[in-house]
Amino acid sequence: MIRQETNLKSLTSLQIMQDSPVIPVIVIHDLAHAVPLARALVAGGIRMLEVTLRTPVALEAIERIANEVPEAIVGAGTVCNQVDAALATQAGASFAVSPGYTTSLGQYCRNAGLALLPGVSTASEIMRAMEDGYTELKFFPAVQSGGVAMLKALGGPFGKISFCPTGGITPQNAGEFLALNNVGCVGGSWLAPNELLLRGDFVRITELAQEAKVLNRSAL
Ligand code: 3PG
Repeated sequence: MIRQETNLKSLTSLQIMQDSPVIPVIVIHDLAHAVPLARALVAGGIRMLEVTLRTPVALEAIERIANEVPEAIVGAGTVCNQVDAALATQAGASFAVSPGYTTSLGQYCRNAGLALLPGVSTASEIMRAMEDGYTELKFFPAVQSGGVAMLKALGGPFGKISFCPTGGITPQNAGEFLALNNVGCVGGSWLAPNELLLRGDFVRITELAQEAKVLNRSAL
């Protein structure tokens, strides 16, 4: 397991993308859901978990998962600036995912040893992230930004970049994205829907993770 083999300083963006075909994008409204949700996803074979910094309990959710579910590798999503990255690190996040990219965020994460999947949706944003040494990138919002056709087009000039498309990905269209040779994994919120959390249906969440784990993926 990456967690046992490496520490925060050496988890790489590539390892984040290679761990499973899907990174769950998690929004926790009720702190009590954090640990059982993480356990349910891990039981289904998905342990690289992105908890978005979109709710008041997000940082505490990361902390609880980091402390109580050692099989999971928990990261922070919706990291928009250095303060978010610092707070996420303090809470125990092992990686960060950002919806967009700024050089100050990229440099902060590099200096802090925090693996970052920076978000991009245009050629110029890709070039900026590449200038700062990032070659594994989140493509966001994926479907709304042109989806599979856009990723194919970006593959011409940016053949060395691996993408994690996120935004509008579903179990139905994930395979089309994973079949692209410049896609390492996808991200999606469908693995942790709020209605299942509210019902406490963690068994179904484990099933969703099992189904996601066997989605076809291309070689990085
Ligand atoms: C997000 O950051 O909200 C992700 O893009 C998740 O999008 P989804 O809900 O379409 O999977």
